Amino acid sequence: MHRYSSAPNFFTATLLSLALASIFLTACASSFGGSVPLFSSSSSGQEIFAANCAVCHGVSGEGQPDWHIKRSDGTLPPPPLNGDGHTWHHGDGLLYRIISQGGKTLEDPNYPGFKSGMPAFGERLTHEETVEVIEYVKSLWGDKSKLGMSIRESQKLVSEQDPFPEGN
Ligand code: HEC
Repeated sequence: MHRYSSAPNFFTATLLSLALASIFLTACASSFGGSVPLFSSSSSGQEIFAANCAVCHGVSGEGQPDWHIKRSDGTLPPPPLNGDGHTWHHGDGLLYRIISQGGKTLEDPNYPGFKSGMPAFGERLTHEETVEVIEYVKSLWGDKSKLGMSIRESQKLVSEQDPFPEGN
């Protein structure tokens, strides 16, 4: 008798959890459905990144696996830009030079074996677009921190000595 009387409750509970599960799944599908992650930044920096950078650095700037191991041609695979690598060690000025002049700005006569695989975007992106894509990359760092300091804060300090160039 008891079992029969509790059956409708069980039924309602099952229906309710199915309904909740479908709401949850729909919410997940809409937040992960796009090809570009949802981060707070101008959509334009995000679009520039998706169109020009994601092919190598990954849709969320996660980089390639084994990015720090040199390939047989002497180039490195594209590193993460999302704060997991060392991009945040570079001030705005150096980030700008790497993107507009290409990774050859990183080549060092003291390490002649290094060949850069990072293309130059100076002909393809305007000054504003270059700054926007860098601001977008920085937005990927969120609140990650190293040695107790937010990496965005430490990058800001480095940038005081090496700011963005003036626009033309
Ligand atoms: C063809 C692949 C490729 C594309 C496309 C590409 N990169 Fe790179 N990028 C690399 C590689 C490889 C490196 C590693 C350094 C090197 O080899 O010069 C790199 C390095 C960098 C670095 C230095 C990272 C660090 O931690 O020192 C930044 C910043 C960067 N890329 C930003 C961008 C941005 C922004 C775009 C799009 C506008 C872009 N890259 C497009 C391959 C690419």
